[in-house]
Amino acid sequence: MPVNKIAVIGGGTMGSGIALTGATHGMQSIVVDISENQLERARLYHKKQLDRAVLKERMTQEEAETALDNLSYVASMEEASGADWAVEAATENIEIKKTIFKQMRNTFGDSVVLATNTSSISITDLASAIPEAAHRVIGMHFFNPVPVMKLVEVIKGKLTSEETTSATIALSEQMGKVPVPANDFAGFVSNRVLMPMINEAFHAWSDGVAEPEAIDSIMKLGCAFPMGPLRLADYIGLDVCRDIMMVMYNGLDENPKYLPSKKLIELVEQGRLGDKSGQGVYTY
Ligand code: 3HC
Repeated sequence: MPVNKIAVIGGGTMGSGIALTGATHGMQSIVVDISENQLERARLYHKKQLDRAVLKERMTQEEAETALDNLSYVASMEEASGADWAVEAATENIEIKKTIFKQMRNTFGDSVVLATNTSSISITDLASAIPEAAHRVIGMHFFNPVPVMKLVEVIKGKLTSEETTSATIALSEQMGKVPVPANDFAGFVSNRVLMPMINEAFHAWSDGVAEPEAIDSIMKLGCAFPMGPLRLADYIGLDVCRDIMMVMYNGLDENPKYLPSKKLIELVEQGRLGDKSGQGVYTY
């Protein structure tokens, strides 16, 4: 059955991207965030992207208005309780996510899938917070910028039901995405492959192999990456990169190959988090 109304918990970069993608694919999308400021930022982002889509003739004015009408912004989860799908896109912290999942279980109907956009945390661990609803918990990992990137990495926890998995695949397709399944290991496939490469770019920089611009140019021009690894790290957020490396280090037998590089840690500790703080590897 097609999904008509999704609740997106968290109005940050990923949450607002997921909501916009739902809205442009005919779904009512409710952004839930306790921060009014975050809700306002999501609203502005949606308006800007839809205006641009009309300007670029990717959408008619009428389609953009319909998408805008599909979007709503609320400060409490209860106001989104009528949704027939819920996806969590909050801070990448297991304790915060567990608390949100308990709230999601208490708020949404018994047949509603409770998805998480976690980039690396174990789905099975997360589902253990709500054992009686663990069959409805699944990883639905989108990529930034969500409206542009085609992939949804679909991660089944140990107790995720087949019904939940097939519904997630169907919803990903309904949102114009290509769902690809992966198993529940820390970092799944995407970040297990991507993050060590980004981390290695920091090692190459601190070892003096080349300056950031050269490292990025080499990977862009020689390997056809749309962004070099250090530019991409700033785009993702250096704190997010460090945290994902630590989730993999802790979740994959403390293998030292997943330890974040000193250079990456140093920049995060200086508050240089990338695009979002105006300074990371580069200055914006
Ligand atoms: N939201 C919506 N649309 C966006 C957007 C955003 N935030 N950013 C860019 N776009 C759209 C633009 O509107 C533009 O479309 P248009 O020309 O039809 O208007 C199109 O994308 C291309 O954008 P630009 O011309 O501004 O710039 P680029 O051609 O350089 O593309 C990019 C920008 C799509 C971000 C490209 O550089 C890219 O693909 N970079 C790599 C991104 C990537 O690897 N993402 C994955 C990160 S890992 C992740 O998310 C997982 C997590 O767990 C860490």
